[in-house]
Amino acid sequence: TATLRSLADARGIYFGCAVDNDEITNSSLAALAGTQCGLTTPGNAMKWFATEPTQGVFSYTLANEILAFATANNMKVRGHTLVWYSQLAPWVTDGVWTNETLTAVMVNHITNVVGYFKGKVIHWDVVNEAFNDDGTFRNTTFYQHIGEAYIPIAFNAARAADPDVKLFINDYNLEYDAKATAMANLVTKLRAQGVPIDGIGSQGHLVVGSLPSTVASNLALLASTGVEVAITELDIRAPTPISATDLAQQAADYTTVVNACLAVSSCVGIETWGISDAFSWIPSVFSGYGDALPYDADFQPKAAREAIAAALA
Ligand code: G3I
Repeated sequence: TATLRSLADARGIYFGCAVDNDEITNSSLAALAGTQCGLTTPGNAMKWFATEPTQGVFSYTLANEILAFATANNMKVRGHTLVWYSQLAPWVTDGVWTNETLTAVMVNHITNVVGYFKGKVIHWDVVNEAFNDDGTFRNTTFYQHIGEAYIPIAFNAARAADPDVKLFINDYNLEYDAKATAMANLVTKLRAQGVPIDGIGSQGHLVVGSLPSTVASNLALLASTGVEVAITELDIRAPTPISATDLAQQAADYTTVVNACLAVSSCVGIETWGISDAFSWIPSVFSGYGDALPYDADFQPKAAREAIAAALA
């Protein structure tokens, strides 16, 4: 059977899956991800807490483990993420900042991390989860001290550090009108100002049987801003253990998302947040939910995997 990565390649897009450091040491997971996924994203290893745990002290050990895995399997890599309110280092979260000092800290972080991975990643999620669900700006450490300007400052710093990597803004619930409209408006405004934004990532953390009717229309809205779009963190969770009914519905829901990407010429790829239900963030955050990925916990393909393949074929 054709692999998901080869089917995606034939359509001119990528199929990817995120992996984490404790996952690639599992030989079953590593073999599956390496075979099926043409691109990967470190689930945690490039986040601020990992890359700059102490101010001015940069650590790339964990990230380099993922890069070595990607290289060994001929996979591209998305960098994730430079400026996010979560999984910051405590010195950032707990620091006493002014606009000027936090701007300097943010720019220094971006300059070092993007510079280090220059030529090794194809995308950066420069800014992650900047919006509330109602489309207002999330009141993060960066927003509090720098205001909305933290976003263009971050993108300009990333571009200065690597002129070639594609720079993305990434968020969840972009299937819904309020956040998708706010994102499209922001990207349109910033691009008119010359801010170097190349893409919008739609994470795609969804629930079986509960996809809004606007999945495709809002991906098209994001693409109408003129930048690339990508599905960056797709998973579709169900009450566990997943029922036969939900396995079929999940396959239909994966089809909906894959088709939404295929319908937009500037959609560059689809990535799931993990590949096997053996490793997923869902059960620890959404109690009673899981089984969200294309392969089951025994690394066997689910109906969702066959649905992705069929949609890509
Ligand atoms: O590093 C500590 C370790 O020292 C400790 O022993 C262990 C005990 O639980 O926790 C470890 O930290 C965990 C961290 O991942 C690194 O592995 C946290 O508990 C855990 O909550 C954290 O979860 C990550 C989550 O982001 C945090 O919000 C998930 O693995 C990661 O998949 C998830 O990814 C995010 C994307 O970055 C952004 N979009 C949403 C997505 C899902 O939350």
